[in-house]
Amino acid sequence: MRIMIIGGGGREHALLWKLAQSPKVEKIYCVPGNPGMQDLAICLEGNPGDNAAMVRLAQEHAIDLVVVGPEAPLANGIVDAFNKAKIAVFGPNQAAARLESSKDFAKTIMIKYGIPTAAYASFQDAEAAKSYIRKQGAPIVVKADGLAAGKGVVVAATTEVACQAVDEMLTGHSFGLAGERVVIEECLVGEEVSLLAFVDGETVVPMVAAQDHKRIFDDDQGPNTGGMGAYAPAPVLTPELAEQVKQEVLLPVVRAMAQEGCPYKGCLYAGLILTEEGPKVIEFNARFGDPETQVVLPLLDGDLAEILLACSQGKLSEVDVAWKDGAAVCVVMASWGYPGPYESGMIISGIEGAKQKEGIVFHSGTRQQDGQLMTDGGRVLGVTAVAQDIQAAIRKAYQAVIEVSFAGMHFRRDIGRKALNRLQQ
Ligand code: AMP
Ligand code: GLY
Repeated sequence: MRIMIIGGGGREHALLWKLAQSPKVEKIYCVPGNPGMQDLAICLEGNPGDNAAMVRLAQEHAIDLVVVGPEAPLANGIVDAFNKAKIAVFGPNQAAARLESSKDFAKTIMIKYGIPTAAYASFQDAEAAKSYIRKQGAPIVVKADGLAAGKGVVVAATTEVACQAVDEMLTGHSFGLAGERVVIEECLVGEEVSLLAFVDGETVVPMVAAQDHKRIFDDDQGPNTGGMGAYAPAPVLTPELAEQVKQEVLLPVVRAMAQEGCPYKGCLYAGLILTEEGPKVIEFNARFGDPETQVVLPLLDGDLAEILLACSQGKLSEVDVAWKDGAAVCVVMASWGYPGPYESGMIISGIEGAKQKEGIVFHSGTRQQDGQLMTDGGRVLGVTAVAQDIQAAIRKAYQAVIEVSFAGMHFRRDIGRKALNRLQQ
């Protein structure tokens, strides 16, 4: 099988790392990929936003399966373009990707089909939105309707902050078109967990549950980021709760999408809050999570290429998906200043040392220049370790992390601690 991966972050590096282990895979191309991915694949230049160009590249290289990593090309209809060209592709088409690309669409589906989620209302008019906020009271959550690179959510402690967020999105156009509609949600209380699933239009196979660490500093302090680390499995989602999420969330939404005429194929990511009333959805993503993928795929005991191809062909029920015992922990190393402004171009050293300590090093924001590996993004590297349990995985991950260095390197020192605390209780 010849595979082409679209994207070039830590998620795509993890997908590549796992796909490359498949005996069925002959060659892998990445567009654009990153310096870490070059060891396992051929990186091609190209713009993932240009559907016609991506189809041409796949045809030129006789690709059997395209795997789309990020949300933007999905929302831009890249899967529709490959479908039209009769090239197998893993990911939802544009209509199905609305589960992520429009929060209003996702909420409408959830309410219509009785899927547990936070109560909400959606607005295009700022005055109407603000009067709703004042009526509901705080805390309250304001979300830009469209894709906002993980930055379109404001969890407001006061109605003033919520109203200000509405003004910035609807009147100040802080998210462009993505913020021309806002969704205002009830603020849910409980622990967060991510449950990703393989989906082929009908069959749903959940992965191991993972927990992301969204805030920049230890103990969940500071602003939200794309994710500073993750671990799996997340003990907070017990097997009973995972089954409940499958029955009450994943299966109903996949059936709903088929009924609405846009069957869902690809990775379906349910972001959940485990409330006192049970698990409720705070978001769907139409793709693998980052960094969740960096801990989930190392625990997959199966052939990822076979699974992804089966999803694209509607044959997921015919393949085996099993999970290894043990746990995985990923620590993300970021540039100083991230998620605010930061500098790039810092020389990175110690990656070989981290690998010697059995760390799996995934690149997120790096570039190669004059033979030197340099930082080139907010999130720079993810270092994953797999071990027999979460405690051992944490220890092993940090032993590898301390080998790596670059000027201004920042990482959280408490990745996985919540799982440890829960297990020790
Ligand atoms: P998102 O960008 O949708 O992942 O949201 C960012 C963060 O906002 C989530 O990780 C949650 O911590 C928080 N959040 C989103 N929706 C809600 C909600 N309805 N209640 C409480 N917190 C929320
Ligand atoms: N880690 C959160 C996301 O991928 O959206």
